[in-house]
Amino acid sequence: MFQIVRKQEMAKGTIIRFDINAPKIAKKIKAGQFVILRVNETGERIPLTVADKDEFAGIITIIFQVVGKTTALMRSLNEGDLIKDVVGPLGKPAHTDKIGTVIMVGGGTGVAILHHVVKAYKEAGNYVISIIGARDKEMLILENEMSQISDELVVTTDDGSYGQRGFVTDPLKKYLDERKDIKQVYAIGPIIMMQNIVKLTKKYEIPTMVSLNPIMIDGTGMCGGCRVKIDDTTRFCCVDGPDFDGFKVDFDELLNRNSLYIKEEKDSLLFSIK
Ligand code: NAD
Ligand code: FES
Repeated sequence: MFQIVRKQEMAKGTIIRFDINAPKIAKKIKAGQFVILRVNETGERIPLTVADKDEFAGIITIIFQVVGKTTALMRSLNEGDLIKDVVGPLGKPAHTDKIGTVIMVGGGTGVAILHHVVKAYKEAGNYVISIIGARDKEMLILENEMSQISDELVVTTDDGSYGQRGFVTDPLKKYLDERKDIKQVYAIGPIIMMQNIVKLTKKYEIPTMVSLNPIMIDGTGMCGGCRVKIDDTTRFCCVDGPDFDGFKVDFDELLNRNSLYIKEEKDSLLFSIK
């Protein structure tokens, strides 16, 4: 059993942060890796990339958006409550070598995952420019935390209620036009955002890593649920990823596969709150 030691509601209560006591995972987990969590004996398995860790306190931080039955159930948990299983670290760590100036882009809840990866890039000695975006001011998360670990931070909101108006791709394009020292772009967020970032960076020939989140079940390479097409080859995101070379990802197939169960997810959420 794993205890929730801190709970914080963010973004109008639709995004939740849990600090969970998990000393063995906190000791081993690296930026970009994820855990699979099961709330109770009969619960479904939810993959969540870790947003931060405190190795000495034995704590991992997860930040999730309430979208279906299980995440709604998780929101009802409070500090002191126990989670049945937390399995990890899973997946491959992000490559965070020292390469120079990097642009790190996060959209929506993707900023939570980006946070851990930015920390690692910064610790490796890179010059880190972060761009984070949200629909509006209230949906923006981790601005202070991101500003502390980035050399430069740009914030966008779709409606212009805070920061620059527009998508994260707008300041990214500006940086790519103005600076010639960008060695890599790293992106995490909605699939359409990552797809559009890759379309842009391809034109500038800037290597781009993306962190994918296909449907996952076992998280250990057994079920094939998380298959993604990379350079026309099938790869399993849970063991071969979640980070991949963005230029090689078949985003259209990923979009199709991820939309397969949207109706069932909504139905199960509605059923659970009736
Ligand atoms: P969102 O729809 O609020 O978008 C967040 C930001 O992404 C926007 O503010 C914008 O800057 C950018 N963006 C959105 N559409 C874009 C476009 N067409 N072109 C360029 N930039 C664009 O994001 P959300 O509600 O947090 O997430 C939506 C989906 O993303 C969910 O289905 C979620 O599962 C998925 N997601 C994936 C990951 C991941 O691991 N890759 C992480 C978080 C969320
Ligand atoms: Fe089953 Fe990856 S989640 S193979």
